[in-house]
Amino acid sequence: AGNWKMNLTFQEADELLGTIIDNIESDGIPESVDVVVCPPSLYLELATDLSEGKSLKVGAQNVSEHEKGAYTGELAAAMLQSVDVDYCIIGHSERRQYFYETDDSLASKVLQLLKYDITPIFCCGELLPEREENKYMDVVSKQLENGLFHLPEKEFSKVVIAYEPVWAIGTGKTASPEQAQEMHAFIRALIGRKYSSDAATHCRILYGGSCNAKNARELFSMNDVDGGLIGGASLQAQDFLTIIRSA
Ligand code: PGA
Repeated sequence: AGNWKMNLTFQEADELLGTIIDNIESDGIPESVDVVVCPPSLYLELATDLSEGKSLKVGAQNVSEHEKGAYTGELAAAMLQSVDVDYCIIGHSERRQYFYETDDSLASKVLQLLKYDITPIFCCGELLPEREENKYMDVVSKQLENGLFHLPEKEFSKVVIAYEPVWAIGTGKTASPEQAQEMHAFIRALIGRKYSSDAATHCRILYGGSCNAKNARELFSMNDVDGGLIGGASLQAQDFLTIIRSA
């Protein structure tokens, strides 16, 4: 899944979408691989129009925790659904950090998305000091406990999790495949304890944080790494296509 963040003009977005769609259509991606792009909300309808009937899925980068009403500047899950959005990133560390999103509001956002059949891509991950102080597992476990584990198993099974260590996002400092694997296995074990081994096996856990065309294959080869949430490298068509081919 590509997270474009706040990048690209309309024309650039149109061009990038066209190149990605043309290439995945001619390459033919395996059925087990889902490709998602998450453009700025202004371009969602462009993206869902261009990808109609194609193998590309479209995600938003945020959603309101409220149903509708007087919330200037916000977008509701029902609005995303009405333009055929399939996925939505929530709880990205940039939103937690710069927009003060809390676990409580994320718990409500997850419910809104599921109500409108949109797949949440729920982000979790620790800050550098938390890793250095060996608290990273506690931090991620709390984020999941508070933001996701209120769901009954049937609803939980629709969620995608993205582990994104904050120190690796946009820094060029990728987690090692072993660090990613350790956390992904830990998350899967938490799911197993909270829900069932079936829920744990089937949950898709993506890695994010300086994942690129060079390191994607190795990261994705780890047992519990099911794919990636790609920031910077998803803005370059050829890099993103190489990452897709590594999945
Ligand atoms: P990055 O961002 O790939 O540029 O590190 C990942 C993300 O924030 O989702």
